[in-house]
Amino acid sequence: MLRRLHKKQPATFAFTPANQAWAHGQISKYPEGRQASAIIPLLWRAQEQEGWLTRPAIEHIADMLGLAYIRALEVATFYFMFQLQPVGSIANIQICGTTSCMICGAEDLVAVCKELIAEKPHMLSADGKFSWEEVECLGSCTNAPMAQIGKDYYEDLTPEKLRDLIARFSKGEVPVPGPQNGRYASEPLSGLTSLKDFASGRKQYNASVQAAVDIGDTVKRIDGTEVPLLVPWLGKSGGKPAKATPTKPAAAEPAKTAPKKAAAVQKAPTKPQGLTAARGGKADDLKQIKGIGPKLEKLCNSLGFYHYDQIANWAAAEIEWVDENLAGFKGRVTRDTWVQQAKILATGGETDFSKRVDKGEVY
Ligand code: FES
Repeated sequence: MLRRLHKKQPATFAFTPANQAWAHGQISKYPEGRQASAIIPLLWRAQEQEGWLTRPAIEHIADMLGLAYIRALEVATFYFMFQLQPVGSIANIQICGTTSCMICGAEDLVAVCKELIAEKPHMLSADGKFSWEEVECLGSCTNAPMAQIGKDYYEDLTPEKLRDLIARFSKGEVPVPGPQNGRYASEPLSGLTSLKDFASGRKQYNASVQAAVDIGDTVKRIDGTEVPLLVPWLGKSGGKPAKATPTKPAAAEPAKTAPKKAAAVQKAPTKPQGLTAARGGKADDLKQIKGIGPKLEKLCNSLGFYHYDQIANWAAAEIEWVDENLAGFKGRVTRDTWVQQAKILATGGETDFSKRVDKGEVY
């Protein structure tokens, strides 16, 4: 299948403040020089936020990771999980069309999608609420035919069941995922043949369905109310995603469920206090920090940053401001871990990189 960027693209893309903090946390998971490894989670987060992956989003993420645009485009256009065109505002319904599902009636499910949503895959329904596509095996073959709707699986489907699901999603409900024919999980259709005692003490839903019901974000889009993921290595904190009832879109969950500390993480980018000149007329050699060359050192000085201890003291909101305001070098503070390096240098320590600079190995 030909995967191309959509003809109509928005002018710009920006992560919500919460997502920006989340993205920095993801980037910081990887060792120095390997920050490009964060590309898939970042692209995915952008898609979760916007519904689909736009060109400005791909380029924005490439800038954050210091990648050439073509490298980010290669990833986005390779993986089918990335939607390169607008999808339904409620859900993009992915019908499995591989062997087990095909034998068990996937074509009838596709026919329902054609009738209720749009004649062709990747087209929006007339009300813009749904789109659909056929996908390869989703690994739920014993519960064929099935579909992924949002983040969850709806299994053991019939055309009637799928019609009902679409109608309920359309009304704002989030039907309980999992088997839709009364099966608990993937036991034989005729009932359990073993472990029968275990069945009497089990919970209402199987583990996957229970988790989906507890989290309640089946078709929720990221809307800025999320609690950032736990990134203790950056001194940040977060919590578990807000719970939602299975029959109500989680987007309606009030933001007040977020713990107070999370609000602090979402603080707007703040310009760090700069100096008008280097203290004592002698600036530190910022080029001892890996990632800062002569050009960036000059730029830092022009912003009032001359010393290691200034950089070492930047908090998350200040890092974000500097990352956003390094014309031509966006995202470098996080990508190259300036703060961590500056903390070592400010106390008279050395990093592997600064040792190499001292030996004249870096120009
Ligand atoms: S064939 Fe459909 S889930 Fe495997």
